[in-house]
Amino acid sequence: MGLRSRVLPPSACALVAFLALGAAAATAADWPGPGERRVSFDSAWRFSKGENPGAEQPRFDDSGWRLLDLPHDWAIEGPFDPKISPHQGSLPFFGVAWYRKRFAVPESARGRYHYAIEIDGAMANATVFLNGRELGGRPYGYIGFSLDLTPNLLFGGVNVLAVRLAPEPESSRWYPGAGLYRHVWVDATGPVHVDHWGTYVTTPAVGDAGATVAVRTELRNREAQPASVTLDTAILDASGREVARSTAQPTVPANAVAAVVARITVPTPTRWDIDRPYLYSAVSTVRRGDTVLDRYTTRFGIRTIEWGPGKGFLLNGRRVPIRGVCNHHDLGALGAAVNRRAVERQLEILRRMGTNAIRTSHNPPAPELLEAADRMGFLVMDEAFDMWGMTKVKNGHGKYFGEWSERDLRDMIRRDRNHPSVVMWSIGNEILEQAKEDGWKEARRLTAVCHEEDPTRPVTAGFNQPENAIKNKLADEVDIPGFNYGVRLYAKILAEHPTWTIVGAETASCVSSRGVYHLPIEKYEKHPSLQITSYDVISPPWAYCPDVEFAGLEQSPDVLGEFVWTGFDYLGEPTPYFAWDQARDGKDWPARSSYFGIVDLAGFPKDRFYLYQSQWTDGTKAPMVHVLPHWNWAGREGQPIPVMAYTNAEEVELFLNGQSLGRKRKGVELVAIPVGPKISDDLRFLTKYRIVWQVPYAPGTLKAVAYNGGKAVATTEVKTAGAPARVVLEPDRARIRADGEDLSFLTVRIEDAEGNLVPGADNLVRFTVEGAGRIAAVDNGNAASLEPFQADHRQAFNGLALLVVRSKRAEAGPIRVTATSEGLGAAGAVLRAE
Ligand code: GAL
Repeated sequence: MGLRSRVLPPSACALVAFLALGAAAATAADWPGPGERRVSFDSAWRFSKGENPGAEQPRFDDSGWRLLDLPHDWAIEGPFDPKISPHQGSLPFFGVAWYRKRFAVPESARGRYHYAIEIDGAMANATVFLNGRELGGRPYGYIGFSLDLTPNLLFGGVNVLAVRLAPEPESSRWYPGAGLYRHVWVDATGPVHVDHWGTYVTTPAVGDAGATVAVRTELRNREAQPASVTLDTAILDASGREVARSTAQPTVPANAVAAVVARITVPTPTRWDIDRPYLYSAVSTVRRGDTVLDRYTTRFGIRTIEWGPGKGFLLNGRRVPIRGVCNHHDLGALGAAVNRRAVERQLEILRRMGTNAIRTSHNPPAPELLEAADRMGFLVMDEAFDMWGMTKVKNGHGKYFGEWSERDLRDMIRRDRNHPSVVMWSIGNEILEQAKEDGWKEARRLTAVCHEEDPTRPVTAGFNQPENAIKNKLADEVDIPGFNYGVRLYAKILAEHPTWTIVGAETASCVSSRGVYHLPIEKYEKHPSLQITSYDVISPPWAYCPDVEFAGLEQSPDVLGEFVWTGFDYLGEPTPYFAWDQARDGKDWPARSSYFGIVDLAGFPKDRFYLYQSQWTDGTKAPMVHVLPHWNWAGREGQPIPVMAYTNAEEVELFLNGQSLGRKRKGVELVAIPVGPKISDDLRFLTKYRIVWQVPYAPGTLKAVAYNGGKAVATTEVKTAGAPARVVLEPDRARIRADGEDLSFLTVRIEDAEGNLVPGADNLVRFTVEGAGRIAAVDNGNAASLEPFQADHRQAFNGLALLVVRSKRAEAGPIRVTATSEGLGAAGAVLRAE
């Protein structure tokens, strides 16, 4: 590493004097040491809400501010407020707030030459100051950005970084979160180094004997004279073994960036696939003589993607129907604050359902989502915007679009284009420019940006006005027109545009509450309980039940597949309560989160989970059967109760208290279910994807047995539960890492004396967590609960609650968890942080 002496900024001397006089303890631990390129800058920030005049100045007294680690979402701390729009979760996400961090930079760091702060996302309208000087900022809360610290750094002293955020009310159609809600890093580089997001790995030729890996590396020279360096690019397999290498000797002009392209052959490559997500790394080493100036690692996968009319979406030459879900970025009770394990858990749950794709609706995701998708084998539609210049909400990103859209989009692609999971870029969701005659111009501009940054992936967009998007030629400007709720037009669109490849960019939008069954089943309307029946037949007028899309895709198999709205419930948009399409009548409070999820906000599957599972998984390999509703209908003895079975097997036989109610073959008897007016004029749709019985109620056991070829292959039962008798705690993981980040999700069940889940149970449960962990959050999936997410207690909702436990940093040992509920005793679990 070349040593350079640097001139201190004029204010630095005064600052040294001030900081020596009793500034709060600063840590040197989070400053990159020799040879380190990127270190976490998450720990020990001070936080305060409010204008705090002068908070950018190093001398500002923040000793009374709260001390915390990032990622942090201040809004999830609540409280819920009826004055804040439920579309944004009724949580206090707007207003000014500050984060400040003091950090020592050793004198010895001077020679490292260049330091940048990298913020993976700041919600929103960030301005960053170092030692009182403004470095820059970013309006869009979902995009990562990097700022140069070097000119204003104080070496051998204490520095103060201050970040001002100013999220605006009415800036989003869902809960955006607020704060430094993603990770923050310091990136240290030498005089010549791989630039920020400076590698681009593609695999132009992939065969069994070998794959060509093209690595384009942008080298930045920060010196005033040309630099002749050696760039080594080593390809490592998943076990870290070097399998190929290339060496180049570029000269990078003074104060400039030069690109070096290496074409490297990897023999007998293992392809990245959804079933086997195999990852390689490219390690770029920049050297001058014997001195290593920089080392930079890029993870990538070797895979091919193709798409086209009549061929669908091909991954490694094999047709993969897209079985995807749309998800917003919040992590339920944890808010928008990103957490690696919480993201991974969402994907684990979705994988069990047969999901193979995620649409990051409607914004660039946290890097952790793409890392998990790479690792676990999901396809990703990476989406940039929910609106263009025509803003959907008063202070939406449309306000900043003219100035920032190109930069935001380029940055998203540069950041994300090495992820094998990413298979398409979306330039927008339901953009209002669809209705504009010249809307195609903006579509063309944005598509061109995508193609420039990454010609290997198709560009899409989610059009909800198909006729307009086609008439105004926006659909012609993308590679794969995506249609939201466009199922009724698939066949017509394909017939009229035989060269197009299309995808169901957003589908269904069915609504339900886990464990809720109203009889008779209500229509799409507000129910006084603020819940919605879980028979999976209710949807807003623009939407429809899952079955409608299944049928549409069967009729038009050339459609690539679907992205269901949504995989998980999310904060905000509690349709049909406070619905955009309905007048407010004051009766909707406190509905504050969505009912669209296939999985509830706490991560508990609703019945719909099994309907998708029955369609998306293979009944010959993993046969399943699910039956609904619960079987506690006291007072309705002898009255018919609709019972539905979801199965991926051929037949289901239903038994009540041992007596067969008949065996039915899936797909034979069509069942009428209601759907939105856009799909069917008589509001009914005949589905073949469910099996239904009308069962006169008698308490006892309802059992469903699924058959393939006449052989019983799966079975399930629901029993009439007695009174709540005990609390049961079930951790998803009993061992977690002692890193202050890792989480264990504990399901809390209210059971009767026989171990049956008690359907309506809403008992209050209190938690204690001792030892090497603490409570991170609690939830129960009730979209109309005003209980705080950060508390030591939670009521059960239909028998279930959730406790999230977080490890403490560098504190290994047992974590003792207890759950108690009045009259039900206590349950305990011992976890280990290691
Ligand atoms: C779509 C929109 C989504 C969500 C959904 C609810 O039109 O793209 O963001 O609002 O409707 O059904």
